[in-house]
This record gives sequence, structure tokens and C-alpha cells, in this order.
Amino acid sequence: MAISSLLSVFFFFFIIFVDGQCLDHQKKLLLDLKIELVFNSTLSRNLVTWNLTHDCCKWGGVECDGFGRVVSLDLTSEGISGRMGGTSTLFRLTYLSELDLSSNDFTKSEIPNQFHRLTNLRDLDLSGCGFIGSIPPTVSNLTNLVYLDLSRNSLTGSLPSFHLCSQLKTIDLRDNHITGSLSYLDFGSLTNLSSILLDQNSLNGSIPHHLFLLPSLRMLILSNNQFIGQIEEFPVVNDLQWMDLSNNRIHGPIPISFFRFQNISFLWLSDNLFDGTFQLRNIQSLSKLTHLSLSYNKLSIDTTNLSSNSDRFPQFDTLLLAFCNLYEFPYLENQSSLA
Ligand SMILES: *[C@@H]1O[C@H](CO)[C@@H](O)[C@H](O)[C@H]1NC(C)=O
Ligand SMILES: *[C@@H]1O[C@H](CO)[C@@H](O)[C@H](O)[C@H]1NC(C)=O
Ligand SMILES: *[C@@H]1O[C@H](CO)[C@@H](O)[C@H](O)[C@H]1NC(C)=O
Ligand SMILES: *[C@@H]1O[C@H](CO)[C@@H](O)[C@H](O)[C@H]1NC(C)=O
Ligand SMILES: *[C@@H]1O[C@H](CO)[C@@H](O)[C@H](O)[C@H]1NC(C)=O
Ligand SMILES: *[C@@H]1O[C@H](CO)[C@@H](O)[C@H](O)[C@H]1NC(C)=O
Ligand SMILES: *[C@@H]1O[C@H](CO)[C@@H](O)[C@H](O)[C@H]1NC(C)=O
Ligand SMILES: *[C@@H]1O[C@H](CO)[C@@H](O)[C@H](O)[C@H]1NC(C)=O
Repeated sequence: MAISSLLSVFFFFFIIFVDGQCLDHQKKLLLDLKIELVFNSTLSRNLVTWNLTHDCCKWGGVECDGFGRVVSLDLTSEGISGRMGGTSTLFRLTYLSELDLSSNDFTKSEIPNQFHRLTNLRDLDLSGCGFIGSIPPTVSNLTNLVYLDLSRNSLTGSLPSFHLCSQLKTIDLRDNHITGSLSYLDFGSLTNLSSILLDQNSLNGSIPHHLFLLPSLRMLILSNNQFIGQIEEFPVVNDLQWMDLSNNRIHGPIPISFFRFQNISFLWLSDNLFDGTFQLRNIQSLSKLTHLSLSYNKLSIDTTNLSSNSDRFPQFDTLLLAFCNLYEFPYLENQSSLA
């Protein structure tokens, strides 16, 4: 019994840690991919060096698992251009868990609707590639996805549903032309979601309440969209540290709930239609708050009833209160930069 378990432990480590030699069919797929891709050999560091003479697991940008199967492909900034079709050999590299095609030039081509075939994908980075069209709905079928970066493209249409992607930690779709609202999306099952970056799009509608209730949320960036509506108070259940809602059309009072995130360090609410009176003492106990902007709203700032104990005031790197009606300017000792 003991010997057989020792043996199985031995074989387990043997299989996992012996450097896998590239499997022939994996090597063939990579070479087919190289032939198929149009790339500038002056700019390419990896693709240009791929050739038959080597173990493909040692090629630049390629990583294999212990069985010699390609699990990671890094083709960032390889000078690849042209169109990527749904029949690309890429979609036959089904063991891939990480794929980085960022900073290539697929201008005027759509993201092929075949990524769901790469069922093992955990990290997908197609940022800065010039992709147009909408995000293929079958991205929603990548149930192992942890990190999704489609930022800095020219994507249009609405967001796909991510409710099956329960492992997601980061959704980065910033700097596209995505439209529609977030309210129909079910983020509720995404218990590991920690960063949502959707800034610089054309999203509208109100900001759904349940976004603030994601248990792992640390960063919420929704600036430079067309969000409207009022944000109701909500129970604080996570440790949000970075929130940017600036440059939208959100109205109503600033929820006091925002100032119950104990570790918040960046809170940017400028260029909205927030109104009412904001009590500056709300921020007084937020010792990690270093960047706060309330500028260009319809707020009045009440600076009365600040605690006289100035150690209790955050040490700002940036505090912006332009075009807020200040009843009196607060006495903020030792603040390095105020505007
Ligand atoms: C390849 O890239 C180099 C360096 O940017 C550039 O000078 C050259 O014109 C490019 N070649 C083609 C065919 O685009
Ligand atoms: C094949 O790759 C190796 C290592 O990158 C390189 O030294 C060799 O010149 C390449 N051969 C050809 C024909 O490109
Ligand atoms: C994607 O998931 C949806 C919902 O579970 C399912 O109906 C659809 O058939 C899947 N599509 C593919 C291509 O697997
Ligand atoms: C969240 O992440 C942890 C560890 O990173 C993992 O064990 C767990 O399965 C994940 N939860 C979900 C719902 O994916
Ligand atoms: C949101 O934008 C979509 C298309 O971009 C539009 O059809 C819809 O009317 C807008 N909704 C609101 C509430 O502005
Ligand atoms: C704030 O950060 C500290 C230190 O990183 C951590 O111990 C604490 O649990 C955090 N607070 C909340 C509400 O998560
Ligand atoms: C501010 O402090 C004064 C004097 O302590 C108190 O009468 C007043 O109710 C306080 N205002 C608020 C809004 O707490
Ligand atoms: C302000 O800064 C000076 C010099 O850094 C320090 O001696 C002083 O104790 C500080 N005052 C407060 C109230 O933090």
C-alpha cells in the first residue's frame, strides 16, 4: 500500500515536472499558425524564430505543460496584421490557458466568434489590436476565464453576459465604443470579481446597485460614459479601494455608503450632476484616502463639525473641490497639494 502510493506520488511528480517535449501535432499547429499569420519580421521577436529544428516548448512566446501540450502563447507586439478568421489554426490549440495577442494590428477585423473552442482559457488579452464589431457572445461560454482584457479597441454593441464566467477576477473593456446598459447583466455570481474597468465607452442607464455588492470588488472604473440615475445607499460588504465614476450624468446626493469603504484611496466623482450638501466630515476618518475629486457637480460642501483632531484628516495627494459651493474653506493642516 505504502509503496504503491509512493510510486503514484513519484509518477505524479514525474509527469508534472519533467520538462515536456513538444508533441508533434502541437508543433505542427504552431507552424501552420506561423504560416497563416501575416507579420512584420522586423517587429517580431518570437514568431520569426519559430522553426522545425527545435522542441516547440522552447520557442519564444510558447509554454507547454508536462505533457508537451501548448498551454500559453504570448504573441504581444509581434507586428501581426490583417484579418483573423474563425478558421484560424489558433482555435485548434485547445489546451491554451493563456493567450496574449495584444498590441498587434487587426484593424477593421472582428474578433472571431470561435474563442469558446478554447475552453481552457483563463487569461485572454486582445487589447490594443484595432478590433471592430461587437464582442462575440460566445466569450460568455469561457467558464474558466479569470482575466479578460479587450481594452483599447474599437468594439461596439453591448456587453455579453458573464454569468457563466464565475472565476473572473478582471474585466477590462476600457476605451472602446460599447453601448447599452449594465442593468440587465447578472454579475451576482461573480464572487471573485475584483476589477471592473469599463471607462471610456458609451454605456448608459443607471449603475446597478448589485455592482457595489460584489464581495471581492477592489476597483470599479466607470468614468467617461453616459450613466444616469441616482445611486441609492447600499450596505458595504467589500473592501473597495479605487472608484472612478467621473464624467457621467449621475444625479442626486452622493451616497454616504461611499465613505464607509474603510480602505478607499481613490474616489473620483467629478463631472456629474451630484447635488445636495456634502458633509466634509464624512471623509474625516478615511485614513487611506489620497485622491478625492468632487469638482464640477452641483454640490454644496459643508465644512462644519469637522473633528478638531487634525490627525484624523486624510493626507491627500490630490483633493479637488472646484465649483463646489464651499461655505468656508476648511482648515486642512499639512496637506501637500490642494486645488
Ligand atoms: C516593418 O516594421 C519596420 C519597423 O517599424 C518598418 O520600418 C517596415 O516598413 C515594416 N515593414 C512592413 C512590410 O510593413
Ligand atoms: C531555427 O531556430 C534557431 C533558434 O532560434 C535558429 O538558430 C536557426 O537559425 C533557425 N533556423 C532557421 C532556418 O531559421
Ligand atoms: C454557450 O452557452 C450557452 C448558454 O449555456 C449555450 O446555450 C450555447 O449553446 C453555448 N454555445 C457554445 C458555442 O458552446
Ligand atoms: C475564487 O478564487 C479562489 C482562489 O483564487 C478559488 O478557489 C475559488 O474557486 C474561486 N471562486 C469561484 C466562485 O470561482
Ligand atoms: C442607451 O443607448 C442606447 C443605444 O446606444 C439607446 O437606444 C437607449 O435609448 C439609451 N438609453 C438611455 C436610457 O439613454
Ligand atoms: C483594510 O485594509 C487592512 C490592511 O490591509 C485590512 O486588514 C482590513 O481588513 C481592510 N478593511 C476592510 C474593511 O476590508
Ligand atoms: C454640528 O455641531 C453642532 C454643535 O456641536 C450641533 O449643534 C449640530 O447639531 C451639528 N450638526 C450636525 C449636522 O451634526
Ligand atoms: C505637520 O507637519 C509637520 C512637519 O512635517 C509636523 O511637525 C507636524 O506635527 C504636522 N502636524 C500635524 C497636525 O500633523
